[in-house]
Amino acid sequence: MLKKLQHVAVIMDGNGRWAQLRGKPRTYGHVKGARIAKKIITHAADLKLKNLTLYAFSSENWFRPEGEVSFLMLLLGRYLKKESQNLHKKNIRFDVIGEVNKLPDNIQKAIHQTRELTKNNTGLHLAFAISYGSRQEIVLAAQALAEKVKNGELKVDQITEKSISDNLMTAGTPDPDLIIRTSGESRLSNFLMWQASYSELYFSPVLWPDYSVKDFNEAIQYYLGRERRFGKVFQKNEESFV
Ligand code: IPE
Ligand code: IPE
Ligand code: MG
Repeated sequence: MLKKLQHVAVIMDGNGRWAQLRGKPRTYGHVKGARIAKKIITHAADLKLKNLTLYAFSSENWFRPEGEVSFLMLLLGRYLKKESQNLHKKNIRFDVIGEVNKLPDNIQKAIHQTRELTKNNTGLHLAFAISYGSRQEIVLAAQALAEKVKNGELKVDQITEKSISDNLMTAGTPDPDLIIRTSGESRLSNFLMWQASYSELYFSPVLWPDYSVKDFNEAIQYYLGRERRFGKVFQKNEESFV
C-alpha cells in the first residue's frame, strides 16, 4: 500500500498552545509532544514506511526565550538517552538534519552515538530536523558548490538540480511525498522548501500533543487519494504515473 509513499515529513506544531489552553507552561506541551512523536515513530515503523522526517526545532526557534530553548535541549538529550536502544531494537536508522554544530556538546555526542548505533539498520529511516532551516541549508549547499568550482573540481554548468540536491542535508533521501503540519497553521516555516516542490501538503487542525495514529492514517489516506501530476497531463493507465 505504501509503494507510492516513500517519505512522510511532519511539522509537529501546537505544543505551546495546547499547554496554554490547560493553564500550563509551554514546556508541559513539549513533554506531551515528545510522547506523541514516539508513538508516531513506532506506528510509521510498523507500517513499514521507508522515511519519516520530523521537524523538532527550527533555526528560528533559537530565538525563543532562553528557558524554553534550554528545556527543549534537555528534553532532546533525555529522549536520545532513553530511546536510542529502543530505536535500534525496532531496526530504525536514526538521523538528524540541521546545523548540529550549534547544539550543546552533550546533544551532539548523543546524536553521534545514536547515529552510529543504528547506522546499519534497514527499517524506517527516521530523521529529526533539529536546528534546521531550509534557507540555511540552501546557503550551505551553495557555499559547498562554490568552493568546488573555486578548486576546479566542478564546472559552473555542472551545478544542476541533482548536484544541489546532493549537497543538501537530505542527500540520498527521496523528496517527501507528503508533508503534514498540525495545529491549523498552513505554512512551511522554513522546512524542506527545495524538497517540497512536488510534495502533497496536508494541514490538520489538531494540536500536536493531541495528534493520534488515527490522524496520521487519515493524512496517508488523503495522500493515497491524490493525483500527482508533476506538471504533466495525467493519463490513467500510464505506467510511470502509478
Ligand atoms: C512546536 O510547538 C514545537 C516546537 C516548535 C519546538 P510550538 O512550541 O511551536 O507550539 P505553538 O505553535 O506555540 O502552540
Ligand atoms: C515550526 O513551528 C518549527 C517546528 C514545528 C519545529 P514554529 O511554531 O516555530 O513556526 P511558526 O513560528 O509558527 O511559523
Ligand atoms: Mg508553533
